[in-house]
Amino acid sequence: MQALVLNRTDAPLDYQTVEKPVADTGEVVVKLQAAALNHRDLWITKGQYAGIKFPTILGSDGAGTLDGKEVIISPSMEWGDNPRFQQKEYNILGLPLDGTFAEYVKVPESQIYPKPAHLSVTEAAALPLAGLTAYRALFTKCTPQPGEKVLISGVGGGVAQFAFQFAVAAGMEVYVTSGSAEKIERAKATGAKDGLDYRRDKLSKEIKEMTGGGVDVIIDSAAGNGFAELVKSCNPGGRICFYGATRGNMNNLDPRVIFWKQLSIFGSTMGTNEEFADMLAFVEKHEIVPVVDEVFSLENGNAALEKMARGGQFGKLVLEIG
Ligand SMILES: NC(=O)c1ccc[n+]([C@@H]2O[C@H](COP(=O)([O-])OP(=O)(O)OC[C@H]3O[C@@H](n4cnc5c(N)ncnc54)[C@H](OP(=O)(O)O)[C@@H]3O)[C@@H](O)[C@H]2O)c1
Repeated sequence: MQALVLNRTDAPLDYQTVEKPVADTGEVVVKLQAAALNHRDLWITKGQYAGIKFPTILGSDGAGTLDGKEVIISPSMEWGDNPRFQQKEYNILGLPLDGTFAEYVKVPESQIYPKPAHLSVTEAAALPLAGLTAYRALFTKCTPQPGEKVLISGVGGGVAQFAFQFAVAAGMEVYVTSGSAEKIERAKATGAKDGLDYRRDKLSKEIKEMTGGGVDVIIDSAAGNGFAELVKSCNPGGRICFYGATRGNMNNLDPRVIFWKQLSIFGSTMGTNEEFADMLAFVEKHEIVPVVDEVFSLENGNAALEKMARGGQFGKLVLEIG
């Protein structure tokens, strides 16, 4: 079969012929029709991810067919028994195990779910990793309540876009930040009450002005020193969940603001199979359609990675297979 293979870092992936996988006990082989990129794939190609090994077929998101049925795959594997955190054996499809940038992928049967009927295969492939991460961060961790204000930071990102769509569908009052005026306008056209550029000076003051006082829930993937501004923009009792560190460490948090306002700051990674099923049910109930920025052929997957590196996308970058 054909696949996009990581044979070294800091170089394009190789589009090459590899052995078709063979299912072992408890496993299945899915014929893939589409796969989607996540920032994780980019970190791996740059060598900025733990446990890199060669050769590996990258790709955590996929949709295709199994025994004539349309399916999607949960890439969050071997979570374990405790819903609060994953066990030591936990892993994400597409490193260490071969992933979805290929014509076929082998996964445990437990990771197979029916494709939501209202989605095309391209849209469905965009959903798994980012949808799951957004669902757990927003609903499980931050438990938004009716009437609360939610801020989605960096709304152009894959996970952020789902967190935004989920918060809008749940009836929250949703605000966004982005580095792009165009992305803010697109968010406003699809349900955001307002938005502003996260590079503005005195961001917390601007967020408070925009939201009429402050926000109750913030979903963020940037972290870095800008995180302190998010903390300052929270209302008392506020919850912030972050699942990425695109802007690096936070060196300037003021603990007084956090304890005096009774804030909760959560880290979150992916989610359980139960959360994946709940996320799919939520997506079907609200007929949420993933925002697909652009579709590339599998062979041209490096162009998709380059677009992600430039940060030019709004929503997901998808690879069509076959
Ligand atoms: N822990 C987990 O389970 C998990 C799961 C998925 C992703 N992640 C991590 O989360 C991050 C985003 O992943 P992704 O796949 O959604 O990436 P992506 O689609 O490439 O999006 C990158 C994001 O970074 C935002 N951004 C850049 N600078 C920012 C800043 N200063 N303040 C706020 N936002 C900023 C961008 O916002 P604009 O485009 O609007 O400017 C965009 O949302 C990555 O670090 C990834 O490794 C973690």
